[in-house]
Amino acid sequence: MRVIRKSNYEEASMACAELIASQIRLKPDCKIGLATGSTPIGTYKDLVDMYKAGSLDFSKVTSANLDEYRGLGGDHDQSYRYFMNTNLFDHVNIDKSKTFVPDGLEADAVKACTDYDAILESLGHLDIQLLGIGGDGHIGFNEPADDFCVNTQCIDLEEQTIQDNARLFFGGDLAAVPTQAYTMGIGYIMKSETVILMATGAGKKGIVEKAFCGPVTPRVPASILQLHPNVVVIGDEAAISDAVVAKAK
Ligand code: PGA
Repeated sequence: MRVIRKSNYEEASMACAELIASQIRLKPDCKIGLATGSTPIGTYKDLVDMYKAGSLDFSKVTSANLDEYRGLGGDHDQSYRYFMNTNLFDHVNIDKSKTFVPDGLEADAVKACTDYDAILESLGHLDIQLLGIGGDGHIGFNEPADDFCVNTQCIDLEEQTIQDNARLFFGGDLAAVPTQAYTMGIGYIMKSETVILMATGAGKKGIVEKAFCGPVTPRVPASILQLHPNVVVIGDEAAISDAVVAKAK
């Protein structure tokens, strides 16, 4: 496990963007797992800036996103497809036909999940998977549970997640946040060659420490990353405690 602790959000975002950019430069046809939420917005902005400056080429990159709200189509401004388009895909030369997000409009949950698993299987493993972490320790939308879920699943979102998402998105309207989502399973996340977990802000400090210094348990889904051979935790001083830094090998 590597830990990169920067003094603020901007520096942490740039460190994350540089890791992703290095992967793309080393292997232009790499496959990258992408995340949504407030945390990666700065990183996506930095990647767009690198592209605009002519130092990054997305033309051969394939991407797979972690999750999507069940019931929201890609043109809904709170859908994760829309988030990816507006924060990254619309501003770089990625081939959108090679960007994958679960189909939120597929009402048949079993089909939505098996379809996404088939796509992921066709990609093989990812080179990098970018993750945020939820206040309850979720990665993607894999919420605390009795077991680690291997495959794509339809999940009932926890109350804390719904509240967090209403606070940051959906104009603060709790009732507007969907209660279910389709999420890539933890099995596929763990198959990625490298996993980058980014966490910033004091609100994440406790859960990041629990995830990386506490026991490995499905009650804290991110804790499974302690077993990944190549995980990089990137964050700011507010989110990354000394105990997490001390765990770095
Ligand atoms: P956030 O969400 O980046 O908006 O804090 C992280 C997550 O829920 O994975």
